[in-house]
Amino acid sequence: MKKIIVTGGCGYIGSHTIVDLIQKGFDVISIDNFSRSNKKMLDGVRKITGKEIVNYEIDLCDFAATKKVFEENLNISGIIHFAAYKAVGESVEQPLLYFRNNLISLINILECANEFKVPNFIFSSSCSVYGDVKTLPVNEETPLPEAASPYGRTKQIGEQIIFDTARACNTQFILLRYFNPVGAHPSVEIGELPIGKPSNLFPSVFYNALGKINELVVHGSDYETKDGSCIRDYIHVMDIAEAHSLSLLYLMNNKTSEKDAAKNNWNVEILNLGTGKGYTVLEVINAFERLSGEKLNYKLGDRRSGDVAAIYSDNKKAIEKLGWKNLRDLDEMLLSAWRWTKKIS
Ligand code: WQD
Repeated sequence: MKKIIVTGGCGYIGSHTIVDLIQKGFDVISIDNFSRSNKKMLDGVRKITGKEIVNYEIDLCDFAATKKVFEENLNISGIIHFAAYKAVGESVEQPLLYFRNNLISLINILECANEFKVPNFIFSSSCSVYGDVKTLPVNEETPLPEAASPYGRTKQIGEQIIFDTARACNTQFILLRYFNPVGAHPSVEIGELPIGKPSNLFPSVFYNALGKINELVVHGSDYETKDGSCIRDYIHVMDIAEAHSLSLLYLMNNKTSEKDAAKNNWNVEILNLGTGKGYTVLEVINAFERLSGEKLNYKLGDRRSGDVAAIYSDNKKAIEKLGWKNLRDLDEMLLSAWRWTKKIS
């Protein structure tokens, strides 16, 4: 069985990806220090797959500890590097925390990939690298503007670090730019576990329905969109998870073409992971009310600083390269995440 190291394996996307990897026959080793995640995810993974996952509770910023994981687990076929802080607002307040955590951990894991000759590497990037993009849908060729937050900047810098590293080592890379992940595994054994007061639309919508947040504020109703609220590309976390397994298989089949290398792409592919379809905040709210039968208490408020009016993906490249299919629609995202949130509340 091919051995895969998953960093941030107890996080939201990490745990769903581990389930898919196991079901596709991979042997998974997780690294997660639970700084932004919960051990319970390992129980959920076990209940779904019947497999006990080994997790190393270490800080990836500690190089010696990270290296030890590779010394104890030789012949790793691939690394999926999820582990990172991801709260945009927090990154504005504590930029150095974000640069230290997200970039040093990346450098350490890349050094291990190089030293232990790990052939395949998947990096969690983000649609936030596109900033306030004007041409929609956004594709992977779009030049990147100044990042809107230190979090977004850690993803832009992370991508650049990988480009430079790829020139000097034999590892192949895929950078996956996620749009807005929502949803939970259909078993509702794993899902998103927000830390502290949520600032994202999900789970704020669910918390409002449960009475945990009194009033949901729609951030902006005067954008140039069909109803004035912002447009985002919400994508089911299971569709994102499956794209990771397919990315590994793609790299393992050594499909990074000589043509791409000749274009100076140096064994790095960038792929958008979105549905290609945008919904406004009000459309999402209406869809949730229709599906759940709950009435939300929301009001139209001011724009939130740092928000872009609209962004959604051109996802053709991921579909073509990986044979990936976007299988789950907005209803399935909302219903699975709602069932999960009720279960853990
Ligand atoms: C979605 C929409 C808000 C809360 C962030 C990261 C991004 C990516 C996904 C991965 C926006 C509106 C929200 C609320 C609202 N992650 N909203 N009321 O900001 O699109 O993206 O997560 O890296 O990088 O920046 O997600 O869920 O915060 O907002 O009206 O109470 O919902 O204005 O239009 P965002 P979000």
